Amino acid sequence: MKIAVVGVGYVGLVSGVCFSELGHQVVCVDKVAEKIERLQAGEAPIYELGLQPLIVDNLDQGRLSFTTNTADAVQGAELVIIAVGTPSLPNGQANLSYIEQAAVDIAESLSGYTVVVTKSTVPVGTNEKIREIIAARTREEFDVASVPEFLREGTAVMDTMNPDRIIIGTDSVRAADKLVQLHERLTANIVITDIRSAEMIKYASNAFLATKISFINEIANICEKVGADVTQVAHGMGFDKRIGSSFLKAGIGYGGSCFPKDTQALIQIAGQMDYDFKLLKSVVEVNRDQRFNVVRKLDLLLENMEDAVIGIWGLSFKPETDDVRDAPAVEIISALLERGVRVKAYDPVAADNFRKQFGKDGVEYCSEAADAARECDALCILTEWSEFQHISPAQIESWLKRPYLIDGRNIYTEEQLAETGLVYYSVGRPG
Ligand code: UGA
Repeated sequence: MKIAVVGVGYVGLVSGVCFSELGHQVVCVDKVAEKIERLQAGEAPIYELGLQPLIVDNLDQGRLSFTTNTADAVQGAELVIIAVGTPSLPNGQANLSYIEQAAVDIAESLSGYTVVVTKSTVPVGTNEKIREIIAARTREEFDVASVPEFLREGTAVMDTMNPDRIIIGTDSVRAADKLVQLHERLTANIVITDIRSAEMIKYASNAFLATKISFINEIANICEKVGADVTQVAHGMGFDKRIGSSFLKAGIGYGGSCFPKDTQALIQIAGQMDYDFKLLKSVVEVNRDQRFNVVRKLDLLLENMEDAVIGIWGLSFKPETDDVRDAPAVEIISALLERGVRVKAYDPVAADNFRKQFGKDGVEYCSEAADAARECDALCILTEWSEFQHISPAQIESWLKRPYLIDGRNIYTEEQLAETGLVYYSVGRPG
């Protein structure tokens, strides 16, 4: 099948590459020439496990290509996938300007029957708007469909090749057939819905997962007060099939480019319909506050923070990615700098991105985990990179000036700590 993918961000790039790996002929288009040049040379612009070799291989096989010219990509394509960004506007609403521009560009280049598929996360009703924009500009036959994406950063290729479900939201049998055919080499539940329900499934899924995280974080905060252990609580809860064990890891809250944006957008979507989504508002509020537990614990430990040197391990919003968008580290480090402390930071892959996007002085970026811990008054773990799990707490103790370890991701066990003199604060566990 001939496919054009418009927008080479996370979703567009991974989907495009994976569809080419499944045997389809894929052209990916993006307006950022530098990104396209790197991709044409076989270089992935993002850090994502397994992506780089797939790009090189499919370029070599001639199934995958990259261009900055939308017309070249769209002409002759049976399927056009819109995967441009929908960033938050200041009020939390999704900014649809890239989607609308993509629809205009696509309309001008359609040739023959085409299914225009939206993979970007868009508010309910957007696919119908896309249909109107295109219909006003072409006489060619086309249908629209919403096929939301559920991949996670860090495991994006694996998630795309092994999806739990594929949601196809369309009002056209012909489009549904084409989309079933597109995915035929994948083993997954295919759910065909109307367009609006498909758009809603994406928001509802992300909102539900965010709710699980905020829920377990609040349970963790209560565990700290009553002397229970949230990891044991989550383990015990997870055996109930109705609850499930995933997304019950307490920590410093969710970040990234999806949950914060999509929860805000759903609150806005509900608000526009005069519905006050109280539960989701609380989820967001709990999440915003959870990260500051790290700072509150430090405040208690270090009475005079002004002369303190604090080490930070982990800057990305989660392991296996260099993405620092909405990473808890941003606000935690800002709060520490406001207190006048010196910060030394280390991340296996995200330090460069963090430095570029953080844009504040006062952080010394270290090239080794040990350097970020050495001679510090306290060390805070903000991302559960496996590299950190392989460093023993005894080793950390030997590097620190004062024996304070704040573990925002619960990576160490009681037994590992037992042999040390560390004062250890984790999340929702007896400290
Ligand atoms: C999330 C969803 O999991 C994907 O299904 C979805 O496709 C994607 O958003 C999207 O909308 O594009 P992602 O943001 O890549 O994927 O990362 P997750 O693995 O979901 O983690 C999100 C955040 O939640 C991270 O900061 C992570 O540390 C945190 N988290 C996750 C917890 O604090 N506890 C958990 O138990 C799980």
